[in-house]
Amino acid sequence: MELADVADDLTEVLLTEVQIHDKIAELARRVEHDYAGERLLLVGVLKGAVMVMADVARELKIHVDMDWMAVSSYGMSTESSGVVRILKDLDSDLTGRHVLIVEDIIDSGLTLSWLRANLASRGPASLEILALLRKPDAVKVAVDVKYIGFDIPNAFVVGYGLDFAEKYRNLRGVAVLAPHVYE
Ligand code: IMP
Repeated sequence: MELADVADDLTEVLLTEVQIHDKIAELARRVEHDYAGERLLLVGVLKGAVMVMADVARELKIHVDMDWMAVSSYGMSTESSGVVRILKDLDSDLTGRHVLIVEDIIDSGLTLSWLRANLASRGPASLEILALLRKPDAVKVAVDVKYIGFDIPNAFVVGYGLDFAEKYRNLRGVAVLAPHVYE
């Protein structure tokens, strides 16, 4: 789906498909360089990271394994609580593996800092994070993210895997959702 197909639901286009593609290519070159000669395991966080994972994996010119986790924050609040429940765990044993967590967006950073600690306890040889988007609040939690795509403003965004009520994940770009859609 193109941004233009739902233009009335969006207030501002933040990233086009081309901008995202170019940035992912740039990040992939760094990853290839950093993991040259190593077997890398990409861990995607469902469901938002599906698009980033698919594009990063295909852009990489090194062999990678791919695995998936699904997590959800406890509670009814729209704010991330930092208390996380595993809905689907990895199939892989992380012992001695070089692991790269692939995420769509870091907002409060609470989900990712929990996830990082959880995976770190499983004995990987190395553990790093790649996130396509980062919001300003992410700086409050000192989560060490090695590969960042774009710093974006503190607005609710959709597209390229990110949803509102499960919609807009299949948008090719990333845009700010218009208030009339959620109010
Ligand atoms: P955190 O724990 O606050 O960093 O939450 C990160 C998760 O919240 C992401 O993986 C997304 O699923 C979701 N999220 C945060 N901001 C947005 C947004 O602007 N649009 C859609 N989902 C978001």
